[in-house]
Amino acid sequence: MATANHIKSLLQSHVTGDNEKFITIAMQVAAHEARQGHSKLANELKQLIDQAKSQKNRNSNLLLLVPSKKELDGILEVSQPKINLADLTFSEKQIDTFKRIIKEYKQQNKLRNHNLEPRRKLLLIGPPGTGKTATASALANELKLPLFTIRLDGLITKFMGETATKLRHVFDAIRTTRGLYFFDEFDAIGSDRMSPNDVGEIRRVLNSFLQFLEQDDSDSVIVAATNYKKLLDPALFRRFDDVLNYDLPTQCQVKALVENKLAHFHLSMPDKAWKKIEEVSNGLSHAEITRACEDAAKWMVLEGKDSVSSQNIVDMLEDRKKAKSNV
Ligand SMILES: Nc1ncnc2c1ncn2[C@@H]1O[C@H](COP(=O)(O)OP(=O)(O)O)[C@@H](O)[C@H]1O
Ligand SMILES: [Mg+2]
Repeated sequence: MATANHIKSLLQSHVTGDNEKFITIAMQVAAHEARQGHSKLANELKQLIDQAKSQKNRNSNLLLLVPSKKELDGILEVSQPKINLADLTFSEKQIDTFKRIIKEYKQQNKLRNHNLEPRRKLLLIGPPGTGKTATASALANELKLPLFTIRLDGLITKFMGETATKLRHVFDAIRTTRGLYFFDEFDAIGSDRMSPNDVGEIRRVLNSFLQFLEQDDSDSVIVAATNYKKLLDPALFRRFDDVLNYDLPTQCQVKALVENKLAHFHLSMPDKAWKKIEEVSNGLSHAEITRACEDAAKWMVLEGKDSVSSQNIVDMLEDRKKAKSNV
């Protein structure tokens, strides 16, 4: 039979969601049984492990994770992002906050033994294209949690009375199925942009959200993102463990971003060229600069050149700027 240590490690890896460790230990158990001469059991275990591995490859394990309630159809979307925080460009303050969240979350048992709660509730505020959605994906990946995105168009119904009920189902899922729950474009709940008749109702929804958020003592991480700070009710800010501001990139960040995005395209530029790129990028978001870099890289590949030129990047950035001022 499996040793007590094996059972303990299996449980531990299950609780922390570490699939790879789970499978490694299961393989050790199978090998242990084979050594004991229990070949039938060892073979059965190996078959089960193979099944688990192929399921993992197809990502169908995610389906098992989706809270099965019918009420959540069209509201929760599940994914298992592969992006890392290191792939993105952030300010030091942002990086420090992420590091702290990851550290506290990974060592939550240690904290809870001392009646301390890990940071789990995070509000991201800033203009479009500055990496809020990307942050939610990368954090889910770093914490090895499935990402559940709450679709607010599914949540906010014409019949506002139902919204609070749906919200309750979402918070039930947060409690019963561990994951990173991402309320994107959160202002649909947090703002008063409805018609005057709806204002009273949206307030009620907002109040129930605040109540659910405050009562939530689950193991899940809750991340909300919004573009409009001003529209948010100040009462919201207090309910989050961290409120993190996102801004358009500084000149330093523009350089880091372009270098990162064009890392595989033989980029070598004098300081003067960087100055120009930083100047033209003024007012553009990370997402727009990323697109300009991709355009420059595509141009290089399709024209058969062997490097991306600074002039090329500047042209693409200027295109993005023009496109922006035309809308
Ligand atoms: N801080 C960033 N660092 C690197 N790339 C970024 C960053 N922010 C945005 N991007 C790029 O732009 C895309 C869209 O950004 P997104 O996270 O959707 O922005 P937001 O949610 O703030 O509107 C990302 O998938 C990524 O390619
Ligand atoms: Mg977004």
